[in-house]
Amino acid sequence: MSLDLTETTITETVQKTFDKAKDERIREIFVSLVQHLHDFTREVRLTDEEWFTAVDFLERVGKISSPTRQEFVLLSDILGLSVLVDQINHHHGSSATDSTLLGPFYVEGRPTAQNGADISGGVGGMPMFFSGTVLDTDGTPVAGAHVDTWHSDGDGFYDVQQADKLDHKLAMRALLITDDNGRFWYRSITPRCYPVPTDGPCGEILRAAHRSPTRPEHIHFWFHAEGHEPLITTLFRGGDPYLDSDAVFGAKRSLVADFVQHDAGDTAPDGTVMTEPFQTVKWTFILTGK
Ligand SMILES: [Fe+2]
Repeated sequence: MSLDLTETTITETVQKTFDKAKDERIREIFVSLVQHLHDFTREVRLTDEEWFTAVDFLERVGKISSPTRQEFVLLSDILGLSVLVDQINHHHGSSATDSTLLGPFYVEGRPTAQNGADISGGVGGMPMFFSGTVLDTDGTPVAGAHVDTWHSDGDGFYDVQQADKLDHKLAMRALLITDDNGRFWYRSITPRCYPVPTDGPCGEILRAAHRSPTRPEHIHFWFHAEGHEPLITTLFRGGDPYLDSDAVFGAKRSLVADFVQHDAGDTAPDGTVMTEPFQTVKWTFILTGK
């Protein structure tokens, strides 16, 4: 290794240290990462102070992260990286339902629920009845598919953002299983558009750029079914004013759904004559075979 490294020779010198990597993909990724990282640094003429700021920023992203606070995922989301990875890896344009980013609020350990169950976890709000059908690309119902769903409350907060208030119980999320006709359905409460968390390091970026932190109203889904590719997707409420300014770039035209408003006195899909206004949402999801 040269003892006379310069601004330009440092890049190749570092790249060569990956020559002996046993995994070719590891070598490819790190050689390219070093190239782009060094090019970026030279291009913006990064100062000492800016380097320290960046290191401190990443340290704070790590420190605020936890199983229920995914600041690194949020950082990836607000920089458009999550959507870019999704675009590269999934077959957009086929008849299958488009995928989109996972977002920072999926958590392990969600409760399982029977079809028809109320998954609101006792959180108050306008009732919402969701009904989904899962099909193969040839129209065959996918029975036994595992369906994770999660959403915010009517104030735009997820359960994990109000853990103390909810006594650390998970709510407005569940795992359901499709029946023989590929159907799944549940009752919950209507979500609402919400700002991504801005009280951490990612909020500093949004404020510095004068960017809106808001995501349009939506419901998340994650499907797993034998013989099919997993699908991470989201349905967005048609007419939401933030559809074309999603803070994390996840909203897509093909995933905009009708969240239908009903009056008190109307009959809900489960046969209940409702004493308050409510919403219904129906959607057919198409999975790609493996
Ligand atoms: Fe969300």
